[in-house]
Amino acid sequence: MRIGIIGAGNVGAGLARLWSGAGHEVMLSGSRDQSKLKKVAGDAGAKTGSVPAAVEFGDVILLAVPWRAVGDILDEAGPPNGKTIIDATNNVGDETSSFQMIERRAPDASVVKAFNTIFAALYDEMEESEARPDMVFCGDDAEAKKSVAQLISDAGFNPIDAGGSEQAPAIEYLARLVINLAYAQGIGPFVYRFAKPSEL
Ligand SMILES: NC(=O)c1ccc[n+]([C@@H]2O[C@H](COP(=O)([O-])OP(=O)(O)OC[C@H]3O[C@@H](n4cnc5c(N)ncnc54)[C@H](OP(=O)(O)O)[C@@H]3O)[C@@H](O)[C@H]2O)c1
Repeated sequence: MRIGIIGAGNVGAGLARLWSGAGHEVMLSGSRDQSKLKKVAGDAGAKTGSVPAAVEFGDVILLAVPWRAVGDILDEAGPPNGKTIIDATNNVGDETSSFQMIERRAPDASVVKAFNTIFAALYDEMEESEARPDMVFCGDDAEAKKSVAQLISDAGFNPIDAGGSEQAPAIEYLARLVINLAYAQGIGPFVYRFAKPSEL
């Protein structure tokens, strides 16, 4: 697949590396520091471009910027022209659903919520392990979800289809729980797995 990534931080850079390693073509964008962008992309085996160029390039676009930057980045990106957007953002400290806001701002895109429930810092540990944790995702477009499920799998996780876009707030609250366990309770960060008792 061709993947345009917006955001070259923990999530964007980490997934650029995992997806390039899995054989996808990746263009990284969205850093405000061009030398950082080139370095991060070089390390990940990805190309670099402007935000609109990454949107043009990708069959799938990963949105991996802080919540406060999402509105401006979507303005800069221009119309996504029916493409698939993976919303990996977490809107911590605000009751608005980031997914629902992105769907409103990009009405012709197929938005899929994914990757927001896993700490990017765990990607490295995942690569050293044979375990395949679960990752929940949701969205309304079956074709878009098929592509995203493949990308979840290529990043080392077992994709769990949580249903339509009405499930996005629940997935956003799961991320809040995961973050709370790690930071407030000091017992993470965790990956997770849904299992029948016989599978444990
Ligand atoms: N970190 C995690 O483990 C994790 C896990 C799941 C979901 N998320 C969510 O994924 C998103 C990205 O998280 P992250 O940890 O990858 O963030 P990060 O490391 O801070 O990286 C954010 C990227 O967005 C860019 N950006 C563009 N406009 C920006 C602006 N106005 N203000 C700040 N940054 C701007 C940054 O540019 P520069 O390169 O110039 O800084 C950077 O490349 C967030 O919504 C977060 O809640 C994070």
